[in-house]
Amino acid sequence: MRNATLSFVLLVGCVFCFSIASRGLSAPGGSGFKPVSSVHSLMHGQGVMFKQVRKAIQKKSTPERGEVIEHAAEVLAELSNVNMYQKDADDYRAWAVSVRDTAMELAKEGEKKTPDEDRLKALVGQIKSTCGECHDKYQ
Ligand code: HEC
Repeated sequence: MRNATLSFVLLVGCVFCFSIASRGLSAPGGSGFKPVSSVHSLMHGQGVMFKQVRKAIQKKSTPERGEVIEHAAEVLAELSNVNMYQKDADDYRAWAVSVRDTAMELAKEGEKKTPDEDRLKALVGQIKSTCGECHDKYQ
C-alpha cells in the first residue's frame, strides 16, 4: 500500500511537471491545458488520497501524521485542480474548485504542530459533501 501510494504520488508529480514544461511550448496563460488522464483514473486518485487523509486524521498515532495529511491533501487539491479542466460546465468547475480550495485549507491545518482536530474533521466533512454533490449530477 505504501509503495503503491508513493508510486502514485510520484506519477502525479511527473504529470504535473510535464504539464508545466509543456505550457512553455503551447498556449501561455494556461487556457490550453488539457488533462491527459480519464476522469475515471483521476477519480481513482482522488479516492486514494482522500482515504489516506481521513485515515491519518482518525489515527493520531500515524507516523509523521502532519506530513501525511499535508501531502495527501495537497495532492488531492492538485487532482481537483486538474479536474476543473475535465468538463466545460460552470457547476462542475465550481465543485472542483471547492474541493481544491478546501483540501488546501486542510493541508495547512494538518501541517500545524497542534492542528485543530475539530477543524480537520469539519474540512473533511465539507470536502466529502462536495464530492457527493458533483457525483449526484455527473457520476
Ligand atoms: C466536479 C465533479 C466531481 C467532484 C468534485 C468529485 N468527483 Fe469523483 N467523479 C466524478 C465523475 C464525473 C465520476 C465518474 C467518472 C467515471 O467513472 O468515468 C466520478 C467518479 C468517482 C469515483 C469512482 C471511480 C471509479 O474508480 O469507479 C470515485 C472513487 C470518486 N469519484 C472519488 C471522488 C472523491 C473522493 C471526491 C472528493 C474528494 C470526488 N470524487 C469529487 C466527478 C467528481
